Amino acid sequence: MTLLKFRLVFLLSSLFILCQTQLNAQTYAKNGMVVSSDESSSEVGVDILKKGGNAIDAAVATAFSLAVTHPSAGNIGGGGFIVFMNSEGETTTIDFREKAPLAATNDMYLNEQGKLIDGINHHSAKAIGVPGTVAGLYLAHKNYGKLPWKTVVQPAVDQAKNGFVFNWYLYRAAQYFTREGNDNTFMNGYFRNEKGAIPEPGELWMQNELAETLTLIRDKGRDGFYKGKTAKKIANFMKKNGGIITKKDLAKYEAIEREPIKGSYKGYDIYSMPPPSSGGVALVEMMNLMELADFETIEFNSADHLHLVAEAMRRAFADRAEHLGDPDFNLNIPLEKLTSKAFAQKRFQEINMAKASISDSSRFGRLYDGESTTHLSTMDKEGNAVSLTYTLEYSYGSQMGSKELGFIFNNEMGDFNPQPGITKSNGQIGTAPNLVAPEKRMLSSMTPTIVGKKGKPFLVIGSPGGRTIINTVFQTVLNVLEFKMPIDKAIEALKIHHQWLPDQIVYEKLLLSPDTRKLLEAKGHTLKERFNMGALMGITYDAEKGIFVGASDSSQPDSGAIGY
Ligand code: DON
Repeated sequence: MTLLKFRLVFLLSSLFILCQTQLNAQTYAKNGMVVSSDESSSEVGVDILKKGGNAIDAAVATAFSLAVTHPSAGNIGGGGFIVFMNSEGETTTIDFREKAPLAATNDMYLNEQGKLIDGINHHSAKAIGVPGTVAGLYLAHKNYGKLPWKTVVQPAVDQAKNGFVFNWYLYRAAQYFTREGNDNTFMNGYFRNEKGAIPEPGELWMQNELAETLTLIRDKGRDGFYKGKTAKKIANFMKKNGGIITKKDLAKYEAIEREPIKGSYKGYDIYSMPPPSSGGVALVEMMNLMELADFETIEFNSADHLHLVAEAMRRAFADRAEHLGDPDFNLNIPLEKLTSKAFAQKRFQEINMAKASISDSSRFGRLYDGESTTHLSTMDKEGNAVSLTYTLEYSYGSQMGSKELGFIFNNEMGDFNPQPGITKSNGQIGTAPNLVAPEKRMLSSMTPTIVGKKGKPFLVIGSPGGRTIINTVFQTVLNVLEFKMPIDKAIEALKIHHQWLPDQIVYEKLLLSPDTRKLLEAKGHTLKERFNMGALMGITYDAEKGIFVGASDSSQPDSGAIGY
């Protein structure tokens, strides 16, 4: 009930903000670009570029900064993914997804009768996964950064210690968490100034405890978080609050460099995140399907276009539920098959342009969605590119944290299938590849992506939005590659979402014409409206002219595309 209300408040507040905001226009630059959900964090990234840092340095600095300025999703208590392409077109990824603790079991969320205990996998200390962000940023910097580690972490320490401007987004969250009757004392006390009051919009907000935690990371690197004082405090917090993460879990956590998922679309190369994210596989599968469509006759935003897109989504999400999970625990994921052109041919033949297919709901139930994640894209003047998405899962994650550490823990364990073998229409699936196991990574939808053109980065893109991430990224990539939209238009254009089950198209209410909606219904689709989907942060790069164009989604009024 509380969470529902919270979602409602955020929906209303984002609407309120939307009404006041103009579209965030494109930014042009010749030396580099940083796009993130907070303008002051994008500035941090650009300052790093100006100091001679590369795209990785800028991404790491921006990510640490967002942990200070954008705490609903920016984090050191969560996890995520990086896709990196250097100026020569060489690509890699860093997986810093949270892991299940050593003491986790596949029945840890069930009662003695084998029933799922309501909400426990989302709203308790047992929902917290072993955080991966600090290890991931550290590994990315160690392998590919240029400036000293301390230089890239310092700006976040400064923002936490000396304060940054408290914005309306934070102010409205603070109002929510301090409402009468809220019994979450950690969140109630979270947005406070030195006098113990909620900061006013425009006031500098200082976070001393977070500054100390970040200082240890600055001085000791990865070990400043996973060992020593911070690890001890995290483990104590877990013990006191019914969590199961121990010092050993923290000491053992490693980020992993993995081969990207590769695909292509009419001469462009697509690089995205492999499992434990489902994003890359689904994106490539859907782009392969689009390559078979006749866009000479199918116009943008026509019922046929949206039908085709929805049918591609339906199929990619069915394959996702069936096959995908942590690759270190699922050794036979058919990645090559799912991303092959031959498989797309077969799938394409199943699509009837006149009639919606039916999702077979006897096999799996509706899938659960999270509330807040954030994406950032960076490029430097050499043409290196970083696409980074990270998350706490829900908005403000578990809404649990230790005051003395000053940061919020994720509730990412909720991304596992909670009850083995049990799949229901109420939002729960129980398929094997994504069941809880000690040290396993939960399946994600985050889709940080880089598209290459003639061996150089061309488009850097990603978004928050739970399962909608895959689809908003997919449509934005299609908008740029097929419909030749500039990046800001591609981001702002209508997005729809189909995730196989429930069998419906969710659409952005103000952007779909009622006439088209009726045509889609006539094909057999069920439609459901929503105001907004995604918060895309993108860059396009013209390697021949050396020009960067950045744009951030107008659904994030405090975001910023800053170049220099
Ligand atoms: O990893 C995932 O797919 C989810 N935990 C992401 C949650 C999310 O994007 C919520 N965002 N708005």
